[in-house]
Formats: sequence, C-alpha cells, structure tokens
Amino acid sequence: MDSSQKIVADVHWVGVKDRDLEIFDDLFPTHNGTTYNAYLVCGKNKTVLIDTVKEPFSAEFFSKVGEHLALEKVDAVIINHTEPDHSGALNALLDKNPELVIYCSRPADNFLRQLLNRDFTSCVIEEGGELDLGGKTLRFYLAPSLHWPDTIFTYLVEDELLFSCDAFGAHYCSSKLFDDEIADFSADFYFYFDCIMRPFKDKVREALAKISDLPIRMICPSHGPIRRSMYQDALNSYRRWSAAPPIANRPKALLAILSSHGNTRKMAAVVRTELEARGIEVNEFALSTMRDDDYRNALEEADVLVIGTPTIQRDAPSQVWHALTLISSVNPKVKRGAVFGSYGWSGEATKMIEERLRGLKYTLATDGLSFRFTPTTANLEECRQFASRIAAAVLKD
Ligand code: FEO
Repeated sequence: MDSSQKIVADVHWVGVKDRDLEIFDDLFPTHNGTTYNAYLVCGKNKTVLIDTVKEPFSAEFFSKVGEHLALEKVDAVIINHTEPDHSGALNALLDKNPELVIYCSRPADNFLRQLLNRDFTSCVIEEGGELDLGGKTLRFYLAPSLHWPDTIFTYLVEDELLFSCDAFGAHYCSSKLFDDEIADFSADFYFYFDCIMRPFKDKVREALAKISDLPIRMICPSHGPIRRSMYQDALNSYRRWSAAPPIANRPKALLAILSSHGNTRKMAAVVRTELEARGIEVNEFALSTMRDDDYRNALEEADVLVIGTPTIQRDAPSQVWHALTLISSVNPKVKRGAVFGSYGWSGEATKMIEERLRGLKYTLATDGLSFRFTPTTANLEECRQFASRIAAAVLKD
C-alpha cells in the first residue's frame, strides 16, 4: 500500500489505486486500471475531505487520512459527485465519525439518502458558495451532468486548485501521481471523455465557461493523474472535444441502412435522391460495415436520422439495434427520425425501430413505410413522398 501524498502545503492526496481493474463500472475497459482520488484539505479551523473512494478500498483510504489526523477529527466531507466509486466509503466513514457534515449539491443530497439509507447531517451548497476552513477557502461551482445531475467542482481559492471530480479525469493508474511524472496517457484521457463526458457536451461547455476566468495552478480530478503541468492541455482538449457542431450550409440527414436482399436499398436510393433534391445533404451508412466512430460523429451533426431495416426472424437485425444503442453515447444535434424497410412475411422491424426511437425521445418526422419483398414503381413513388415529408419536417426548422 502506498502513502498519502502532498499536493501543496496542507493539501494531500489520500486516494487509492485500483491497479487491476479491467472494466470500469462493468462498462468501460481500462488499460491501466484506475485511481479513486480523494483529497484532505487542512485549514486552521477546519479539516475536510474532498470525496471518498470505492467501498472495498475504505480501510486503505482511512489509513491514509490517519497519517494526518484521526478520522473523528475530520469536520466535513465535500461530495463532488455521489457515484459509488467516490461515495463508497461514506457509510463506514459516518460509522466512525457520525458528526461529519456532508457538503454537496441538492441532487447529491437526494441521491445520498438512497445510497446510504441512513440519516446524516448535510449542507446543500449553492453556486459560488464558499466554505472557510481558516486560511483556506473552498468555493463551489455547480457542474450538473458532468456526468451525473449531482456534480460540482470545488475550487481551493488560495492555492488555485480545481477539484473537478470526473471531469478532466482518466482511468489510468501509475506509481506516480502527477502528469509530468507519467508516460503519455492521452489515449486514456480521450477514451474517458468519449465514454463519460461526450453525451453531455453542452454541459461541458457550460462548466468550462464557469471556470474560464479562474486562475488554476493544478486540476485535481477524481480519476487518474493530477494535472500539475498540463492542466491547460486538459482544458483545451475539453474545449475542442465539446465544441458545438459547425454550422452547416445545408441540413443533414443520416441515412443508415441494412438491406439483406437489396430491396431496402432500392427504397433507400429513392429516399436519398428525394432528400438531396430538396437540398438536404445525405450521409449514408451501411450498418453492416460502418465504423461506430464515424456514425457517432454523424449523429451529432444530423438534423434527421433515417433508418432502413429489413425484418429478419420477426425482428430488426442486431446491427440495426446496435446503431440505436450508440445514440445515447453521444449528444445528437436533433432528435428527429424516420424508419422504412422491406420485409418478407411478418414485417415487425419498422414498428419496433420506431418505438425504440420514441423511447429515446425522438420525434418521428413521418409514419414508417414498409413493403413486402420487391418495391413496385408505385411503392417507390411512396418512398419519394415519404422522403418529401421528412424533408418538409427538416426544412420547417
Ligand atoms: Fe468516477 Fe462518475 O464516477
């Protein structure tokens, strides 16, 4: 077990290293494990923790805090975000120190009631609110949806340290703590943004604006290296990655199709031609061969998502469902959709995909369109009209 580590005078890292973690949250693979960073800030009058660690590491965390003072002497804990990788040791901490005051956002206070299932003393913080520890002042900034509704940033005014919670973090565990002591971890840093923050790009932009004028000496995230030297790189990367989609000259349609026997593709060709004739740029993806990254980028720029799917075994093919699972991994520009396809005998897929899009809060530009086997000339004319209705819905905006 390693020891606590000094960040600046009277501020220590008291987190833990989870070197062997292979999948974070059972969702995201890690190449180098992760860390659960927690910090101890000692003022003249008060001593507080910023975040805790994942529950199985509680004893190690307590031991590191104990290098500085008894747990019973800690006055308060700032909970920047309640996800159990940061609040997991809270129950045991409250067992040892029931007088502890929890500072957190309103949503965090609500979440903790159900996460801890016990009474505790809390102080709900406000935007810009401060906590004076005696020579060290903590200021709070609400950062909702980075990546939970409860998230806040805590800023240590005198030392210009930003405790940014998950933002600017990385799942990367090293024997060292500071970015300038560690080999390049930029791939892990981007992967973390892509998985955790990307669906909330607009909220990232809002949070960046709040801290844009703050003097920052270091960024202390809740996972991975502390940004001692390259904090500006981290800020710049987040600015670039969370930028709003460029303003396009023409509205864009993402046309995503899977066509087992060519009939859905015939329909798609007519849909595409009509959309383009109406001035809409069409970005077409074959769902059987597409690269997820390209499709996710296109989702963020599309004014409408048009899906063409056959029905196979009374269902849409798995590739079509997969394309729908990717929607929640990004921040789609507009949630507008339409569905069409050819089928052989039962034809459930169109309705199923429409229902899923509604579940994802999409508005359907027009009712779905489906035909049995090879579309006739009359059917293809209906495809043109179907696309015309989509174009009208897009152009109305
Ligand atoms: Fe690292 Fe959202 O918890």
